[in-house]
Amino acid sequence: MEKRIFSGIQPSGRLHLGNYLGAMKNWIPLQDKYRCIFGIVDYHAMTVTYTPKEMEKRILDAAVNYIACGLDPEKTILMIQSLVPEHTELAWIFNTLVSVPRLSRIPTYKEKIQQHPENVNMGLLDYPVLMAADILIYKSFAVPVGEDQLPHLEIAREIARKFNTSYGKTFPEPQSITEEKGMRVFGLDGVNRMSKTLDNCIYLDDTKEDVEKKLATAVTDTARKRRTDPGNPDVCNIFNYHKLFSSKNELSEVTEGCRTAKIGCLDCKRILADNMNRELDPIRKRQKELWKKTDEVKKILIDGSEKASEIAKETMREVRTKVGIGLRKKS
Ligand code: TRP
Repeated sequence: MEKRIFSGIQPSGRLHLGNYLGAMKNWIPLQDKYRCIFGIVDYHAMTVTYTPKEMEKRILDAAVNYIACGLDPEKTILMIQSLVPEHTELAWIFNTLVSVPRLSRIPTYKEKIQQHPENVNMGLLDYPVLMAADILIYKSFAVPVGEDQLPHLEIAREIARKFNTSYGKTFPEPQSITEEKGMRVFGLDGVNRMSKTLDNCIYLDDTKEDVEKKLATAVTDTARKRRTDPGNPDVCNIFNYHKLFSSKNELSEVTEGCRTAKIGCLDCKRILADNMNRELDPIRKRQKELWKKTDEVKKILIDGSEKASEIAKETMREVRTKVGIGLRKKS
């Protein structure tokens, strides 16, 4: 059987560098190794308050960014979760295999109910179960995710194991593919992960000038008060970005320059801005092109969802038979 991997991204609006470095960029090389299915998980996005009229735009935004960053619909399946209802169907069956106390102990659930005490809906608790279904409906053997998603992946493994012991070997226990580099991308504040709600992001559709301006005010080594003070790259978030965008030579130059106060933070940031813009420029260009032909983008998603459906339907047929649900023509 072909080796499949699944990963998903929530259609939560504009994508930022954290999404790019933590997700899409790492997915690109996987496209040549495995059968990749990348989903825009719109049902997951319903677990927090949202505006229905904006959802389609957000889905398109995610798709435009996926493709602009280099996910290739010729190689990879790009799909929308809600267009393949087998995801939610399988989630229902999985609901019977996991306990409520187990789900209520998951860190992301605890965080969410603290952030949104006014909206502790069942979907928040059930979120990891639907995620397990996203992964296992394609019998994916691995999942590229950030570290924050590992507790969810553990649930997927537990569910697979439980299903296999209860109903016979059906699902693989999916492994994680995490990258050491880039998975934890801090925001411009240098303290928190890049996050839209914290307003500390560089967005993939920020202009060249936006990037320059945002970097100019970004936090560096806070102990370096004056231009003439030597700085410490090891504690500087700008240096972290350099590691992701600059060449080895530039890295040793800015390290040297910073430690000896030969260069100031602004000089260092200018080099970074140039390098970042060099990488983001082609992405921005492709985004612009794609926004001019959203019909094509929609077609990619619909075709991708159809291909995904074929696999998902087969899994559901097998699952229904194994759990003894429904009727079969021949018994
Ligand atoms: N929970 C993931 C996130 O917020 C998104 C997601 C949903 C996902 N289903 C998935 C990721 C399946 C990997 C596999 O980032």
